[in-house]
Amino acid sequence: MTKVITYGTFDLLHYGHVNLLKRAKALGDYLIVGVTSENYDRYRGKLNVQQSLAERMQNVLNTGLADEIVVEEYEGQKIDDITRLHADIFAIGSDWVGRFDYLKEYCQVVYLERTRGISSTELRDRQHPQIQLGVVGSGRIANRFIPESKFVSGVTVEGVYNPRSASAEAFSQRHELAFYSDDYDKFLKQVTAVYIASPHETHYGYAKRALQAGKHVLCEKPMVFTKNEAEKLFEIARENNMILMEAIKTAYCPGFRRLVSCAKSGKIGRIVSVDAAFTKLVPPHVREMQDSESGGSVTELATYPLLAILQLLGSNYKHAQFYSLLDQKTGVDVFTQMHLQYPEALATAKVGLGVKSEGSLVIAGTRGYIYVPAPWWKTEYFELRFENLNEAEKNFYKFSEEGLRYELTEFLTRITEGRMDEGACKLSVDIAGIMEEYRQGHVVKIGP
Ligand code: CTP
Repeated sequence: MTKVITYGTFDLLHYGHVNLLKRAKALGDYLIVGVTSENYDRYRGKLNVQQSLAERMQNVLNTGLADEIVVEEYEGQKIDDITRLHADIFAIGSDWVGRFDYLKEYCQVVYLERTRGISSTELRDRQHPQIQLGVVGSGRIANRFIPESKFVSGVTVEGVYNPRSASAEAFSQRHELAFYSDDYDKFLKQVTAVYIASPHETHYGYAKRALQAGKHVLCEKPMVFTKNEAEKLFEIARENNMILMEAIKTAYCPGFRRLVSCAKSGKIGRIVSVDAAFTKLVPPHVREMQDSESGGSVTELATYPLLAILQLLGSNYKHAQFYSLLDQKTGVDVFTQMHLQYPEALATAKVGLGVKSEGSLVIAGTRGYIYVPAPWWKTEYFELRFENLNEAEKNFYKFSEEGLRYELTEFLTRITEGRMDEGACKLSVDIAGIMEEYRQGHVVKIGP
């Protein structure tokens, strides 16, 4: 008996898939189909798969062509499967020509002509019209956002707004955008959603006007500086049936999501402490080192440690205390320790600009602890550690390049589903509340 094996995601199963499965089956007597798991697809950067693994497997089964189905979960599994299942032929579409030649050591490799004019990507795009995104601001983060957006299907960045026309023009040329504008109302008319990456203090105004004009908003962190402003923006979003989301990439990356579920699963017992640090070396002339109103380590960086603390311990802390070292010349807070006291837990966040420290996250529990090395906010790895060293567990994940693709993917999912994630909204409100407490002066300032 000749066994043939093939692999795919098979999202929104289409005739291209069926054609391939038929021809693969015809190469032998028995067809094994590997269907990718959700995690593996995310790992290899395929972020927009619409159907669950169960649905995709069922659809492949329904073709009546597969004699056996396996789930593909990791890099290198194909070799293991071919050996374990004694496959004689590995077949795959011609879009992969050459990529699987390394399997020739294990079996025959056949590339089958791909059916023209159909793909899952195209079907997904057809189901949900492309989101035309406009970028507000043309600074550092906006420049990093554009290349990331190319990894997310269902969205195209069309234009950029900057009140300084020359900056907008240069940005649109650099990234080959369709238009640029220094008129916010005209800019809004040409897009369906906006990504706000302008100076922090302008976020509220731009977000409000965009939501009122019927545009979805993905807003850089910190979204706003006060709890009231955050609540107000979410209220406006709800009134206008729009999506508003704070762009906290870590919250949506696969590794961090797993970390939170793992910490909350009871594996390390009850969580009694969270310590998170984020420090960054930046040149002294940059905006965040000069602007004592909207710059500084807390405004710039505290969102990340607060995300970890609030997601792990919740928002019912009893008291927050802050200690800040201020720059002698500018008065900007360059290093800050935040202490949050919960009824049964303690948390610290350390943030620094122009200061470098270990950027780790440690979650201590009554049975063990979780250690996430720097840079924990790009969670690629975490370790569960216990009194008995032999019980330690190591977990690896992928965090692709800048990671902004994760927040954008989530934003598109929210738009498609037509509802905000209430937990994420509350988190943004809570973070704004803590920033507000800090800015109101519940802080021991050390410096001028
Ligand atoms: N395939 C094919 N003809 C098509 C589409 C896919 O022969 N028109 C083949 C692929 O080459 C692969 C298998 O079907 O061997 C599963 O492909 P998959 O990546 O799941 O489907 P795509 O439609 O290519 O998905 P996407 O657009 O998300 O890349």
